[in-house]
Amino acid sequence: MSAPILTVSGLECSIAGQQVVEDVSFDVPATGITAVLGRNGAGKTSTLRGIMGLITRSGEVRLAGERIDALPTHKLVQRGIGYVPEDREVFGSLSVAENLALAERGPNPRREFVADLFPDLVARRDQAAGTLSGGQQQMVSVARALINDNRLLLVDEPTKGLAPKIVQEVADALAEAATTVPILLVEQNLEVVRQLADDAIVISSGRVVYTGKAADILDDEQLTTQLLGVHAEGGSQL
Ligand SMILES: Nc1ncnc2c1ncn2[C@@H]1O[C@H](COP(=O)(O)OP(=O)(O)OP(=O)(O)O)[C@@H](O)[C@H]1O
Ligand SMILES: [Mg+2]
Repeated sequence: MSAPILTVSGLECSIAGQQVVEDVSFDVPATGITAVLGRNGAGKTSTLRGIMGLITRSGEVRLAGERIDALPTHKLVQRGIGYVPEDREVFGSLSVAENLALAERGPNPRREFVADLFPDLVARRDQAAGTLSGGQQQMVSVARALINDNRLLLVDEPTKGLAPKIVQEVADALAEAATTVPILLVEQNLEVVRQLADDAIVISSGRVVYTGKAADILDDEQLTTQLLGVHAEGGSQL
């Protein structure tokens, strides 16, 4: 197996002096989608924000073997880590095309790849992003990360609050994106996790409590109930 693209060791994060990530260690393989699971408030978003240097953190983070935990956020972005935050954060008064243009970094933006992935956005290129539906805004947010030639994407709950049909569209786009870039994906929709993720990490109270194959945890009803407080089986969430 090839070396991991990201290695996190003993990550601790705090917000306003309060520790929210206690001790998080995991590897992200260089290909495919790795899911981050856990109950509400477990520390999933804080883990991603800590990796990105958006909150106070300590511990070791390596990108393809190189230490990156002392780098400021903009350097991490320059090194090729794309971040899609939990709450989308598109520029509402700017058009779809303007949102994408502002995200472009480097000389060869992958405009065609993004246009093929999200034809809906091409049709709406002149529409103000703030007037798009939630699902369309999510697509802009994902497209903003995909337009650059990133080495790793951190994507936080991209299907949250979306209608089932749109959930599937976003999931399909992520599956396609994952053929070109490894993704660390926070996702609460276990049907989406089952479709997309190879590996899974479960976080509880700021600590990693499980790592393994995504299918193994989803197939283990006792584990999903104990760690996630939900039943993975019995009724698709899509
Ligand atoms: N800005 C903040 N100020 C104070 N505490 C915060 C802040 N943001 C997060 N926390 C706390 O940190 C802990 C972890 O939150 P985090 O957002 O990382 O959880 P999460 O696993 O992403 O949850 P969710 O599934 O609801 O998105 C929670 O107890 C939360 O209340
Ligand atoms: Mg979160």
